[in-house]
Amino acid sequence: MTDRSATGGFDPSGIDEEAWTELERQLEATIPVYDKVNKIMTLGFDKGMRKHVRSHAEPGMKVLEVGCGPGSFAVDIVGMDLTCLDPSAEMLKVCKKRLDKVRSERGESQASYVEAIAEEIPLPDNTFDRVFCLFSFRDFKDKKKGLEEIFRVLKPGGQLVICDAGKANWLHGLFGRLYMATFVQWVARIVTKDPNHPWKWLARTYTHYGTHSYYKGVMKEVGFKDVKARLLFPGMSSRFKANKPE
Ligand SMILES: C[S@@+](CC[C@H](N)C(=O)[O-])C[C@H]1O[C@@H](n2cnc3c(N)ncnc32)[C@H](O)[C@@H]1O
Repeated sequence: MTDRSATGGFDPSGIDEEAWTELERQLEATIPVYDKVNKIMTLGFDKGMRKHVRSHAEPGMKVLEVGCGPGSFAVDIVGMDLTCLDPSAEMLKVCKKRLDKVRSERGESQASYVEAIAEEIPLPDNTFDRVFCLFSFRDFKDKKKGLEEIFRVLKPGGQLVICDAGKANWLHGLFGRLYMATFVQWVARIVTKDPNHPWKWLARTYTHYGTHSYYKGVMKEVGFKDVKARLLFPGMSSRFKANKPE
């Protein structure tokens, strides 16, 4: 059992229940300006990062997005059988409204929506060709358990792709913390006009987030192979990819 009391409930392996519940409340508070703040704080690079992650899937695939939030990534998954999972009913409501509209305009079947956490995915084994996690892995309560569940629902030969705030190593993490503590806070404060804006909590999850080598190790322990991690240009985000053996 990890003692996370000194850090208010966070460490690289996960987040205590009480801190996670508050984090979820804060994440829901970001919904009205979520895309706007993300775009400004990443200087517009969020679009390219999402495009890069999407390029790992092809039309016809069965895809799961874990932690879909308000659907910022899911709206541009085209020609695929899509399932969106999130523990927040509020996030799923916004995501569904957005996706139902764009998918019916494109003549696609509707996506499926699942209210659940990554650590307990109520879906069968060996189901998906791809699982994507964009800016949600950092919020998992138990990172290893979440990865085990994702491994279980992936088909043999399937791939997990994660994109989250970048922390290549502890030195890079120091620059990341500076960026989170200054620029991100200014942007969020200006856009929300609230000194107690929810991006304070997002900075907190980054502070206690692990490095590339830490999570690559956990992914290998879970059974993934060909585990890779790299920063995406211009260095604000990390991309992990890992395959379930055939
Ligand atoms: C910052 S949003 C990311 C939204 C979206 N994926 C994107 O591309 O911007 C993080 C999402 O992860 C969800 N989340 C938090 N804890 C989670 C968990 N344990 N399992 C799955 N999703 C979780 C939150 O409810 C939230 O909607």
